[in-house]
Amino acid sequence: MTEQQFIPQPYSKTVSEGRVSWESPSNIALVKYWGKKKNQIPENPSISFTLSKCKTITTVTFNKKVSAGDFDFEVFLDGEHKPDFQPKIETFFNRVVEYLPFLKNYSFKIETTNTFPHSSGIASSASGMSALALCLMSIEKQLLSEEISEAFFYTKASFLARLGSGSACRSLEGDLIVWGANTTVQDGSDLFGVKYPFPVHEHFKGYQDTILLVDKGEKQVSSTVGHNLMYGHPFAAERFKQAHANLEALKPVLESGDLDAFIALVESEALTLHAMMMTSMPYFILMKPNTLEVINKIWAFRKTTGLHVGFTLDAGANVHVLYPKHEQEAVLDFIKSELAKYCQNDQFICDEVGFGAQELTECKLI
Ligand code: PMV
Repeated sequence: MTEQQFIPQPYSKTVSEGRVSWESPSNIALVKYWGKKKNQIPENPSISFTLSKCKTITTVTFNKKVSAGDFDFEVFLDGEHKPDFQPKIETFFNRVVEYLPFLKNYSFKIETTNTFPHSSGIASSASGMSALALCLMSIEKQLLSEEISEAFFYTKASFLARLGSGSACRSLEGDLIVWGANTTVQDGSDLFGVKYPFPVHEHFKGYQDTILLVDKGEKQVSSTVGHNLMYGHPFAAERFKQAHANLEALKPVLESGDLDAFIALVESEALTLHAMMMTSMPYFILMKPNTLEVINKIWAFRKTTGLHVGFTLDAGANVHVLYPKHEQEAVLDFIKSELAKYCQNDQFICDEVGFGAQELTECKLI
């Protein structure tokens, strides 16, 4: 598909006001996206597990304006008006208005809440932008004369979410989503996420992700800045090639259920992501001492018990502890007794692989 195909036919229906709600989860990449071209086009393909418990719930209330003009919206987080969210949404609206021309014709109230603690160091951009993109698609659906297929609905919503925050395009469906053109998954696109189409072993069903809140503070370097530092990065070309190779290598691993090979690939991806940060110019480090303490504990525990516990990292200090559901009891005991102490206030979040977003109320007129 091309960008052009996401530009709608002129709207034929008039809707004066309405409300819609969606909840959408976060996701955790196994092969990481780090580095982008213009218009949020990724430099390399990525694949992620969709999560199930870390979610954003967004309600958009809309009213037709007397005449089209500038964007008119207000954002609320947990019931509190958030003028500081305005610039991010304004940028998003500017990027997507070509594909959602109704944005200029309505006033919007955007109310959002997260199921995970606000300042947990867990990025809410993937869940937040995907939830908002879905709400906007539900509104557009009401304005079109022709029915759109469910597949097109999700594809366009993913396309829009990507324009809000790249990795957000992988949050709408589950349980494994690929984003970025590549030769392993033929349907993979730089424009939106697609479901991983190949067989996946039982071991990966209900895979556990316990997120250790090692550092709940604001990141010193944003993802946007980090992505941009891949321009002119001395190892960029090799890294992008490696991501393609790792996606290809993951295919037989996912099919056979080879957990050791899975862990090796996923941990290497996480450390490579952070190695790219450390070798950028300017260089930076997002891991904290406790991130390394946790990693070493995981390696020691894996060696002594033979259990299949591994880790991955986002662009931050928190550690995602990944393990199969059938080893949950032993690994959770280990997390509680040996890892929780490295978390701020001993906090961690138990999540697992999920199946994507859900509409909470059908778009309706009020
Ligand atoms: O979606 P962004 O621009 O916040 O970038 C996210 C990048 C990583 O989380 C580090 C990796 C990924 O693929 O999700």
